[in-house]
Amino acid sequence: MRAAQRSKKGFDVQSAAMAATHTDVIIIGAGAAGLMCAAEAGAGGARVLVLDHANKVGKKILMSGGGRCNFTHLHSGPENFIGHNPHFCKSALSRYTPYDFLDLVERHGIAYEEKTPGQLFCQNSAKDIVQMLLAECRSGGAQIRLRTEIEAIDWQKPFHLKTSLGKLSCDTLVIATGGYSVPSMGASGFGYELARRLGINVHTTRPGLVPFTLPPKLLASLATLSGISLAASVRTADAFFQENILFTHRGLSGPGVLQASSYWHEDEAVAIDLWPQADLLTQLATQREQRPRMSLKNFLATLWPRRLAEHWCTHYVHDKPLNQLTVEDLKQLQNHCQPWTIKPAGTEGYRTAEVTVGGVDTDAFSSKTLACKQLPGLYFIGEVLDVTGHLGGHNFQWAWASAVAAGQAI
Ligand code: FDA
Repeated sequence: MRAAQRSKKGFDVQSAAMAATHTDVIIIGAGAAGLMCAAEAGAGGARVLVLDHANKVGKKILMSGGGRCNFTHLHSGPENFIGHNPHFCKSALSRYTPYDFLDLVERHGIAYEEKTPGQLFCQNSAKDIVQMLLAECRSGGAQIRLRTEIEAIDWQKPFHLKTSLGKLSCDTLVIATGGYSVPSMGASGFGYELARRLGINVHTTRPGLVPFTLPPKLLASLATLSGISLAASVRTADAFFQENILFTHRGLSGPGVLQASSYWHEDEAVAIDLWPQADLLTQLATQREQRPRMSLKNFLATLWPRRLAEHWCTHYVHDKPLNQLTVEDLKQLQNHCQPWTIKPAGTEGYRTAEVTVGGVDTDAFSSKTLACKQLPGLYFIGEVLDVTGHLGGHNFQWAWASAVAAGQAI
């Protein structure tokens, strides 16, 4: 708490004679985790106030899943999360499962569907999830105040907050301010900065679930492929995903690339198998037996969208009848497809990233209650912590589970 006692501009203030409006619990951040925690703590009898600087609650929920919110993944488990302590998420995830959230969704009569196996989306709109959370907050009596800036916090108990609403105080303070991704939706580094001021370590952050950008020359050569999606596998130094990739006018995207991006580090190469279904050369040998005069381009077009087959035959291998392919041609073909190895120029950054990888060190918190070990009454939940889910509903599942764990402990 050394850092907390120093009065630093922005967060820590002297407690001197603040006449504040008192509530049991203040939650900063009215996103997925903050609203869920407010509902849970309210249901448990606490008087809860939620503060957010944005003009709307749950903005990321509203924009998620293409507007239909992939609100959980039925098979979500610790193996779907990245973090320096891979065990931290286990307790909360096991005590509030995807089926618990699904029960809530069903109780509210929200229509949903399973798209890719395990991934549950609203059938109508992500608004249904926000409305559900607001209804749960209302029934627990939680109050929500938007467009509220937190100007300073005094860490002497009860906690005192200087805000644009005036002075507030609480016995329990929950930080649910999320990560850096999509700043235009209200994302900020508030939680990270606060942790640092309290002397809590923050692991280096980087954008995750984000498209790759490509070096200008490679990007220009792939320009005609924009919009093509195909099954592939994507390998980085630490991870392997077999999911679709998408060529875009900025680089590469699609689920396989987004997943890999969460593990990717600058200057690392990425190996993309463009035909993960089988060994290309074995398949080609069979085809050569059966249709020796078929052109390589037409063969590739049986595997891929034709535009991609044409591009590969223009840029990487010579188009010839299959029976005229030399060993050298075959090697060249395989080298450029299984895998096609590229070095991304970077990523599209926080502007489009779905999550922030890294964050507040979980070692400072109880994995059961999400309570800060060194400062009783303080909780951190959701994405601000160093717990990052894979694509497919895992990030919301962490938001719900960590929020419920804290909400029940408060
Ligand atoms: P969240 O970001 O939801 O909420 C943080 C809140 O804190 C915001 O309301 C913000 O305004 C507020 N705040 C920040 N700084 C503040 C400050 N200084 N003062 C006051 N308030 C402050 N996940 C998933 O599982 N399925 C999906 O389909 C998607 N899709 C998706 C699409 C896109 C485009 C994005 C950007 C993200 C996703 N995600 C996702 C990820 C998911 O949205 C994310 O992991 C959760 O919203 C995290 O929940 P939190 O409550 O932790 O943060």
